[in-house]
Amino acid sequence: MKTDLDAYWMPFTSNRQFKKAPRLFTKAKGMHFWTDDGRQVLDGIAGLWCVNAGHGRKKITEAIQQQAAEMDFCPPFQMAHPKAFELAGKVAAIAPAGMNRVFFTNSGSESVETALKMAIAYHRVRGEGQRTRLIGRERGYHGVNFGGISVGGIVANRKMFGTMLGGVDHIRHTHDPARNAFSVGQPPHGAEFADDLEKVIALHDASTIAAVIVEPVAGSTGVLIPPQGYLQRLREICDRHGILLIFDEVITGFGRTGQPFAAQTFGVTPDLMTVAKGLTNGAVPMGAVLAKQAIHDTFMTGPEHLIEFFHGYTYSAHPLACAAGLATLETYADEGLLTRAGEMAGYFAEALHSLKGLPGVIDVRNIGLIGGIELTPVPGQPTKRAFDVFLDCYDKGALVRTTGDIIALSPPLIIERSHIDQLIDTLGGAIRRPA
Ligand SMILES: Cc1ncc(COP(=O)(O)O)c(C=O)c1O
Repeated sequence: MKTDLDAYWMPFTSNRQFKKAPRLFTKAKGMHFWTDDGRQVLDGIAGLWCVNAGHGRKKITEAIQQQAAEMDFCPPFQMAHPKAFELAGKVAAIAPAGMNRVFFTNSGSESVETALKMAIAYHRVRGEGQRTRLIGRERGYHGVNFGGISVGGIVANRKMFGTMLGGVDHIRHTHDPARNAFSVGQPPHGAEFADDLEKVIALHDASTIAAVIVEPVAGSTGVLIPPQGYLQRLREICDRHGILLIFDEVITGFGRTGQPFAAQTFGVTPDLMTVAKGLTNGAVPMGAVLAKQAIHDTFMTGPEHLIEFFHGYTYSAHPLACAAGLATLETYADEGLLTRAGEMAGYFAEALHSLKGLPGVIDVRNIGLIGGIELTPVPGQPTKRAFDVFLDCYDKGALVRTTGDIIALSPPLIIERSHIDQLIDTLGGAIRRPA
């Protein structure tokens, strides 16, 4: 029976193009999806940076099934269920030292809103209520809600939506192809881009600024790896001025860069950290904000019967998500997946950088199991070259992702060398095809 495609208004999709030539998946297992006509497609992007342990993991599926049968829902306000505490403890155990308080949400976007509100409220509780400004970064992606697009820096995600939050400013992005093109791992140049924060602070005065939010590795804007020393410098500046540093680890969390979190890979601990995606291996929507204990404890004042933080979601710590999260963390631990990206990074980097020299390839960048390939746009038709590469790869059996004229790879952490070879061969073939 032909599926009627009209009613579903698809997110972040060229709806008309899609509905003319639909791409439908109906099954997924391990490193692969299967299309509705039975073709196998290698997953080069872990679904959407989330299926870190690969698809259809039995332990996770069974945990969700069991939980659904046992208790479908538990109110999260003034009530709780044991798995919520267990999961929070397990997340805290793999987090950077001291980031041991966990607030659950249902997505990366909600995690971002939560962290921004937490930062502003934190300063207010400790008597600096004038610290309300939020600083983001050009080309940043922090989800799609109003706080997230306000601190975000992707123009297309902002320009249609009015004035957004007031009191937000941005530091410059770190992309510097003139000096850093084809860097393997962290680019050598650009620690000084962090000094832009000093300029913004001088403009607004530190006493008005609550927090700075950045992705340790920017993903959705086309894979920007932090220059060596950059994140350290941001940390120092924030410390000097009493500003909270928020790392948005929605894509980097849960093993993507070779450690459980990018904060550990880069040796810089933020004050708040947003996560989602890999927390449940993508199987049930869930996100979280990890807070330093001192931040959490600051809220724990006043009469004990009063709510300390007026924020939360009906589905915070949903039992199905918690069950999925626990089974996911167990799977990661059993298979050493939170450090596997580090083990595969060398082979992945070499394969990726073999694309240097192909027509139109102007940069290749990588860290852990993240890869970015930047292409020269077709004159007058920005984004078309990368989109054509995406379509060609899909036809030839590999799923990649594009943003602008950049191709992003973020395969499941269970990837084997043979999959990397196939992915890069398919991609190379698609790039070689005349634009
Ligand atoms: C860094 C970052 N933050 C936030 C989000 C938003 O997450 P979600 O789509 O789950 O709302 C994303 C999604 O890709 C992301 O990459």
